[in-house]
This record gives sequence, C-alpha cells and structure tokens, in this order.
Amino acid sequence: MKPLHKAIFPVAGLGTRFLPATKSIPKEMLTVVDRPLIQYAVDEAVEAGIDTLIFVTGRSKNAIVDYFDRSPELEAELEAKGKLEALQRVRDVVPPHVKCFYVRQPQPLGLGHAVLCAAELVQDDEPFAVLLPDDLIDAFPTGTLAQMADVHRRHGQAVLALEEVPLSQVHQYGVIRPADKNAHPLQIEGIVEKPRAEEAPSNWSVVGRYILTPDVMTALKTQQPGAGGEIQLTDAIAACLHTGNFVGLPLHGKRFDCGSKRGFLAANMHFGLRETAE
Ligand code: UTP
Repeated sequence: MKPLHKAIFPVAGLGTRFLPATKSIPKEMLTVVDRPLIQYAVDEAVEAGIDTLIFVTGRSKNAIVDYFDRSPELEAELEAKGKLEALQRVRDVVPPHVKCFYVRQPQPLGLGHAVLCAAELVQDDEPFAVLLPDDLIDAFPTGTLAQMADVHRRHGQAVLALEEVPLSQVHQYGVIRPADKNAHPLQIEGIVEKPRAEEAPSNWSVVGRYILTPDVMTALKTQQPGAGGEIQLTDAIAACLHTGNFVGLPLHGKRFDCGSKRGFLAANMHFGLRETAE
C-alpha cells in the first residue's frame, strides 16, 4: 500500500443547527477566534504530512473554495501597505507544496456518501484520511491526525480516533466494540452508528478523524442507507472489520463539537482566552 498523502474533508452537510447563519455561510467557515473551522482541520492534516486536500462541497459552499484560492490583489495591497504580518497569515492558509481538489456531493445523502464522492481522486492501493472540521481538537503533544498517522505508518492499519463519552451520549456517535479494553491502540472488533445506550457495545465513540484503507472505499460503493436513512461511513467500516485491520487511538487532548452551538462557543472561549492571554 502507498504512504498516506491524501485527506478528504466532507463539507457538504446542511449545517441545520446553525441556521439561519448557514443559509449563506458554510458551517465550516464559521470562525473560532480569527480562523474558520476548516482552517484548523487543514492545519492538522498538513502537520500529519498530508499534501493533497480533497474537499467534498455542496450547494452554498463556494466560500470554502474562495478561501483556499490565492488572492493576488489582497496580497499585493497588504505588501504595498507594509502589513507583512497580515500578509503572512493570508499566505499561510495553505503551504505552497499542498494541492487542493474539489468535488461536489450533489445531495447530502450522508457522510459515507460524501466520502464516496471523492473515490475518483483516491487510488485503489492508497490509504486516505477523513477529517470532519466540526470536531475541533486541542491535542498534545502533536495534532490528533499526526498521532494517528504515526500508528498507521508503523502498522499499516486503518486508525480511528476515539473518545470515551457518557453512555447517555452514545446515541450521537459511532461506537466501537474493542477486543481488549486495555490494549493500546485498541483493536476494533465491532462498530455501530448511533446505538441506543442499552445496545451500545462500549462507551468509546468515534471522533471525526479517520485514516482508512482502500477496502472501505470499495465497501462504500455498495453501501445501503443506514441510521437516519443516510449512507453511513460507519457501516462501510463495519463491513471491513473482518480483516482485523482496524485500530482505535484514544485522543489526547480536548475535543470541541463545533457542530453544536455549545461546543462552538466553548471552543471560542478556550482558544480565544489562550490566544489573547497577556
Ligand atoms: P453533520 O451531520 O454533523 O453535519 O456531519 P450537518 O449535517 O452539516 O449538520 P446539522 O446536523 O445539519 O447541523 C458531519 C460532517 O459531514 C459532512 C458535514 O458537512 C460535516 O462536516 N457531511 C454530512 C457531508 O459532507 N455530507 C453529508 O451528506 C452529510
């Protein structure tokens, strides 16, 4: 299998929890302090050695495409005015060695379907990362995806980021069944999307960071709708678990669910207080 180079960012969801703002502003462009959510996810991917970014966009998401474009007029003006620090921040949006590609998800049919829309851009012998920008993670000692990429490099396995959540919240997540609760990383034996608390195989929830092997893309091609009538990435992963090739890495750090108002506000408080500390 080839080394990990590509990351898919599914950003075609409707963002209904932030309406009416998300009528014209993509949820992924909402800002935490001074950067849009998508920038945090891109920075995390680049830190992990990703050099090809694939954005799966949809209706009303053009602001994301514009954001990652070069802006020669703005850059020239900032340079002429001597605003060099601001100029650097504009240029740092994507490092020069990183390429961006955009594909369209015609309808938001689910996360699995969004990932499948990028299939043409990922080769049959190539692993790929998936990052959900709603999950913003203040991780240590490195970004979450860099930690996962390290595990993937050493073992060649698919890696899912995990977090323990109270049983009362498992119905919001994909939840795994670990083979041995004390192993590190955890071997994944089962996975189910949005289980009821009494049916959950554990309280280890899947966070929005995945490094997946090509068999998952193949499984997505025939994946039928699951929870919520959507084509679920979790179901395609479940179909591949028999390979014994999937591990879970508990995340080190604090995760903010920026798809919810409370998580988004908490992220702004957390990063805002830190960045403006005297
Ligand atoms: P969410 O379900 O959290 O996002 O999907 P949403 O549907 O946009 O938000 P709400 O629930 O209506 O407020 C997680 C991620 O998957 C993407 C979303 O853009 C988000 O980044 N997604 C989801 C897609 O790209 N396509 C889909 O069909 C579904």
